[in-house]
Amino acid sequence: MKFSKNFIWGAATSAYQIEGAVQEDGRGQSVVDMHCRKPGAIWQGHTGAVAADHYHRWAEDVELMKRIGLQSYRFSFAWPRLLPSGAGKVNEKGVAFYDRLIDALLEAGIKPFGTMFHWDFPYDLFCRGGWLNRDSAEWFADFAQLLAERFSDRVTQWLTINEPQCIAGFGHFTGSQAPGVRYPRAEMLTVGHHVLRAHGRAVQAIRAYGKNPCQVGCAAVGVASVPETESAADIEAARRETFSLAPTDWGKEFWNTSWWMDAMLLGRYPEEGLAFFGADAPKIHAGDMETISCPLDFCGANFYSAVSTVRAGPDGLRERLPEPVGMSRTAFHWAVTPSILRWGPRFLYERYHLPVFVTENGMSNVDFVGLDGQVHDPQRVDFIHRHLIELEKAIEDRVPVLGYLYWSLLDNFEWDHGFRERFGLVHVDYASGRRVLKDSAKWYGDWIRAHAGAG
Ligand code: FCB
Repeated sequence: MKFSKNFIWGAATSAYQIEGAVQEDGRGQSVVDMHCRKPGAIWQGHTGAVAADHYHRWAEDVELMKRIGLQSYRFSFAWPRLLPSGAGKVNEKGVAFYDRLIDALLEAGIKPFGTMFHWDFPYDLFCRGGWLNRDSAEWFADFAQLLAERFSDRVTQWLTINEPQCIAGFGHFTGSQAPGVRYPRAEMLTVGHHVLRAHGRAVQAIRAYGKNPCQVGCAAVGVASVPETESAADIEAARRETFSLAPTDWGKEFWNTSWWMDAMLLGRYPEEGLAFFGADAPKIHAGDMETISCPLDFCGANFYSAVSTVRAGPDGLRERLPEPVGMSRTAFHWAVTPSILRWGPRFLYERYHLPVFVTENGMSNVDFVGLDGQVHDPQRVDFIHRHLIELEKAIEDRVPVLGYLYWSLLDNFEWDHGFRERFGLVHVDYASGRRVLKDSAKWYGDWIRAHAGAG
């Protein structure tokens, strides 16, 4: 079985990473704006003040998507652009921006895929305790209601909260990303619990206020390991490693799948996690887990790089293999592990029994505009191709995979790494805003045309 004709091919971005115009048309401030003001927080002091200037160039960007041949475009709504103080008064100019974008996408035959929240948390709500305040779930539910009321007549595919792992872990524990606070473990887990409650409340809001029937899913980090061989024992070892609580030493408090996804999809935190966190585990109020786990239509995950390759060890134990010398790496130094797209979706499907959506996958590369005016990025073409070959194997293994979104449409602001990393299918010259389709964009367009309606 191959990619079905209903398979959705697209690309993704997020608001702060591309929009710019942070002071324009009544947008309020976010914690990312604040984080960018912190000396040393962002590589070379970059900020998203202009970014890819998408706020002004959205029409050109939709035109580029059309030229590539994308079927779907995932973007996020900037909470402080729509609700400048995070709650209360709506900024109609912000609404008008997304209205224009959505209408242009539909006109171009591209399905809008809305992310409700991709990290640009309103500054004013941060001053009220941010995600540490239990009310944050209600603030977010109100925002989700607004999205439903204003946009769900045209946007019917939704993701709630991008990567809860990163919000809690990098945002509130290591402090490398906005808001850049370093809470103790207990408070980080409280933040995580409130983020998960907010996710659940947003699902309820989109179901209650959606103007059209909507499909909604999560967009967690797909923290996954892959088996060394296809033997049943190695597969089982990789499966267990994938859902283990501490697959890495550096991020053992938050960099995992099961703490977050078991809560959203099974309605409970894993026993292993509760034992590991002990007294630091979040306080669960009556009804919390029901809210967190209200039913989703699909399980979305962002897959970049397998944590490890695993094999069955003696006595039922599992062994992580050392990384081979000379491992292929992206410009970000992330290991290239295409089989994550075979095993990641499969393990998620087996555990959570929902169709899987690959909501992000991609690589940063050392792209530049050549003397011929083109951007040749054969590594990215190869990267995408290898990953799609593996994704097809997941489908052959009878895993229902709904779609694939390449990260990212455009080169953009890569959080604490500023503009150092180029992930786009489209090259952006930040000084002029000029866009050039990379070779990978053309290749991906050909792939989409060849596979649309294939099966
Ligand atoms: C993901 C984020 C996205 C981008 C990519 C490279 O973790 O969701 O915004 O930074 O990584």
